[in-house]
Amino acid sequence: MKAKLIVALDTPEEKRVRELVTVLKDKVDIFKVGLEQYLASRGKVLDYLRSNGKKVFLDLKFHDIPNTVEAAARVAVREGVWMFNMHVSDFEGMKRVAEAALEEAEKTGIVRPLVIGVTVLTSMSEEDLQETGIPLTPQELVIKRALLAQKAGLDGVVASPREAKSIRENCGEDFISVCPGIRPAWAAKGDQKRIMPPGTALKEGAHYLVVGRPITKADDPGEAASKILAEMEEAFK
Ligand code: C5P
Repeated sequence: MKAKLIVALDTPEEKRVRELVTVLKDKVDIFKVGLEQYLASRGKVLDYLRSNGKKVFLDLKFHDIPNTVEAAARVAVREGVWMFNMHVSDFEGMKRVAEAALEEAEKTGIVRPLVIGVTVLTSMSEEDLQETGIPLTPQELVIKRALLAQKAGLDGVVASPREAKSIRENCGEDFISVCPGIRPAWAAKGDQKRIMPPGTALKEGAHYLVVGRPITKADDPGEAASKILAEMEEAFK
């Protein structure tokens, strides 16, 4: 189950990153680095995680013209990240990122990272979409964008666990769903609205679970991670 659990390092403090990685070192192999920690550490967090043998999901959500996202993708490959993401946008930009990731990995002998698309931010409501000129529900747009991302060669998408089933139905079993919004029954919801317990999310079709506060804000993060891993295990019994 360790291979399916990603812990979000959402903190600006380097010291807290070290504490969390130390206490979770035997239980967690993959850590998500977002804008906050990446900027606060000026990218050095990647060196720290790499030197501790951890895999990185670089959650910087690239969104730019094809030439720029492609160039950023090449750097992400050379940084040795395990997964990175970009907004689902024009077909050409996504295709160039997918191809560049493969080409750069082959050229450097580095393992190709998984490239994941962000379909619709979960903070966007139907009204928000309409305001930006998109006359679809978030669910309709998620599937439309997941299919486009797949056609362009991306490996999967970030999705709410509630969408994982429909993504599997539309894009097939192998197209990856990376799901945040995971809350065991014993954890606080925080600001997440559309939540699901870890075992249920896996049963619904999530390939990877992204968990932040239920682990990082727990009194004992190691124990919280163990409990979540046990719940994930249960889903396959
Ligand atoms: O603390 P929590 O478990 O809610 O953290 C979930 C992580 O996943 C955070 O880093 C959050 O920014 C991220 N995320 C999310 N919903 C999305 C995309 C990313 O919660 N749709």
